[in-house]
Amino acid sequence: MERMKEDDAIPLRGKTCLVTGATSGIGLATACALAARGAMVVGIGRDPARAERARAAVIAAAEACASDGGARYDLLDLSSLRAVADYAAGLVAGTKALPKLDAVVNCAGFYSDRRALSLDGCEMQFAVNHLAHFCLTTRLLPLLAKAPDARVVTVSSASHYYGRIAWKTLEGYLRGATPRRPYIGIRAYEQSKLANALFTAGLARRAGGALTAFSADPGLVNTEMGLKQGLSVGSLFWNWRRRFGTSPAVPAEAIAWLVAEPALRGKTGLYWKDKQELAPSRRALDPEAADRLWTLSEAFVEAATKGASR
Ligand SMILES: NC(=O)c1ccc[n+]([C@@H]2O[C@H](COP(=O)([O-])OP(=O)(O)OC[C@H]3O[C@@H](n4cnc5c(N)ncnc54)[C@H](OP(=O)(O)O)[C@@H]3O)[C@@H](O)[C@H]2O)c1
Repeated sequence: MERMKEDDAIPLRGKTCLVTGATSGIGLATACALAARGAMVVGIGRDPARAERARAAVIAAAEACASDGGARYDLLDLSSLRAVADYAAGLVAGTKALPKLDAVVNCAGFYSDRRALSLDGCEMQFAVNHLAHFCLTTRLLPLLAKAPDARVVTVSSASHYYGRIAWKTLEGYLRGATPRRPYIGIRAYEQSKLANALFTAGLARRAGGALTAFSADPGLVNTEMGLKQGLSVGSLFWNWRRRFGTSPAVPAEAIAWLVAEPALRGKTGLYWKDKQELAPSRRALDPEAADRLWTLSEAFVEAATKGASR
């Protein structure tokens, strides 16, 4: 909030913005930045106490700026595609239905040095960082279609430049096979962040002019993401490295700008850092990979939501 200059503060009054990962770090700061601009924030959290604390922080941020912004928090575990699909259906037509949705900010993220599987039997980083956001966003398209200038911002990372999609391994998870190869957490993280950029490219192509899709690199940010897996080499390294990172308010400001800036309408499919357009990796620009990832992601969602035993 301290970074929000007056000429920067583009009002989001009357707009509804959904933010995943809105209970800590960059997602919480983004929820605050959007509410400060007048948006009604729908925050996603997985823990009731953390969600309530975050909701209070977002409302306080709106009040501090005397904006009309507000917040409601919904509980959702992104490691279950069935739960994500059910939640999205509820927003579209259920008891929690919204009349329209102006923006989705896909910010939730998970990192682990050890292999963990989602409730659907997929590698957890790919499942939470990519599949959950794929499922949520695609199921919310009918609500986004009702907004005049809808935005989808998916938080990727510079790690995506090193990412490769391990197609055979992922297809194996879909069949219920767990690879015998040793797990390298950072490779799985890079893969999931490349998937974020490829998803943005695929969404931009499919949605045409119906919405504007971006991926965003927040830079190195001082958050607790790498610590949540418990004690490991990776958590010790992250605890040292994060000290060189910015405050979450810095990328939050840039993400809120991607949601709010009218001049960005239609500039879909782009990759941003600090309000600057950047070239993503060559792999992130491969349209065949974007299509293959879309098809694979649909297959994961279909298997999970049909309750197929795998
Ligand atoms: N920090 C960096 O330097 C950096 C750099 C590049 C990209 N990023 C990206 O920025 C995004 C935000 O990360 P951060 O650094 O702000 O980390 P963070 O503070 O740990 O935030 C991650 C958020 O995701 C939520 N989350 C994780 N697993 C979930 C699940 N299964 N269901 C529901 N919510 C879940 C967390 O909920 P809880 O509060 O319950 O844990 C938290 O709100 C991530 O996509 C990350 O890849 C971060």
